Amino acid sequence: MQAYLVGGAVRDELLGLEVKDRDWVVVGATPKEMLANGFKQVGADFPVFLHPRTREEYALARTERKQGRGYHGFTVYSAPDVTLEQDLKRRDLTINAMAKAENGDLVDPFEGRRDIEDRKLRHVSEAFAEDPLRILRTARFAARFHPLGFSVCDQTMALMKRMVDSGEVDHLVPERVWQEFQRALHEQAPEAFFEVLRDCGALEVLIPELASEKVFQLAMAALGCVHRRLHAETEERFAALLSPLDAPVAKDRGKALKAPNDCQNLARLVTAFTPQIRDIDAQSPEAETLLDLLDQADVWRRPERFSQLTKVLECALPGDSLTLDLLRTASEAATGVEPRTLLAQGYKGKKLGSAIRTERLKRIGDAVAPTNH
Ligand code: CTP
Repeated sequence: MQAYLVGGAVRDELLGLEVKDRDWVVVGATPKEMLANGFKQVGADFPVFLHPRTREEYALARTERKQGRGYHGFTVYSAPDVTLEQDLKRRDLTINAMAKAENGDLVDPFEGRRDIEDRKLRHVSEAFAEDPLRILRTARFAARFHPLGFSVCDQTMALMKRMVDSGEVDHLVPERVWQEFQRALHEQAPEAFFEVLRDCGALEVLIPELASEKVFQLAMAALGCVHRRLHAETEERFAALLSPLDAPVAKDRGKALKAPNDCQNLARLVTAFTPQIRDIDAQSPEAETLLDLLDQADVWRRPERFSQLTKVLECALPGDSLTLDLLRTASEAATGVEPRTLLAQGYKGKKLGSAIRTERLKRIGDAVAPTNH
């Protein structure tokens, strides 16, 4: 049997990037032989094994055939006669379809190295179209390698358009879509992910409202702004993305994507606040109205959510906003009340909860409308 380093590790090594996960493909072996060599099988139906010492993944060379729509319905064929080239051929992009032998030789039947040099994301074969998730993966690699100058090549973009037109993207399961969204939101240039999805038509299917040019530009500006802040979390990135949508629409989109509750909640708060802040600003900032809003939104309960809200709104509502200034002040005031301090004063259980609420609201009130107190 022969083992080859494959996929992301080979790609990243050629790009001079740090290699995190090392995946291997084994040619010419049976599951029995792997077990006899001390490897542990990972999945019941998948010919993937863990190395007894390094715990790295070793997969038997395999081919895959698609049977159903969306991401389900693959049949895996694995046998000692499956070649390395057959295994590489089932992969998504040429830059991910290279292998390195133990003696250091590069096995590169689809010219992944040339595409790395040319900074191109190119599909390996028409089999790319069997898995619509690859559209999202390609967009994610575009987002990751955007600073290095990578882009999707024309033929791959055309293939992705045909896949979208044939309705493949409608059948993706939300959990998978969210997994890619979540990762993409943290890539080097998250805007590039959404640009690729827009260009191939997938955005129109996944979040149709974002596909309109004006809304798209607002969303990208807000997302880019949050992304450039230190330690922007997934909730903040997602809420920025949805910030130009109407609140009920944002709610539906968050649900349809099965985004985690924290992401959905922040997006809901942001989209509820944005038009109201514009209104208050237009009239002249009214601290009372803002206080009402804050109380209704229950933000005092979790000041960390309060500061997340402020951060996203600062990005979603660029330019001077007096109301936003007030909100920032209020957020800082609420964060200043620490449950620890109240605990030390002897508050416990329900009483602790109401003491926190009273203290936070008082501080917010003092900060926002000092003349009333
Ligand atoms: N792969 C694929 N199609 C998919 C998922 C994975 O062709 N839908 C292949 C690619 O060759 C990829 C390899 O499986 O390189 C491993 O997948 P994964 O670990 O998800 O990606 P990496 O390329 O290792 O990228 P990352 O750096 O994000 O881990």
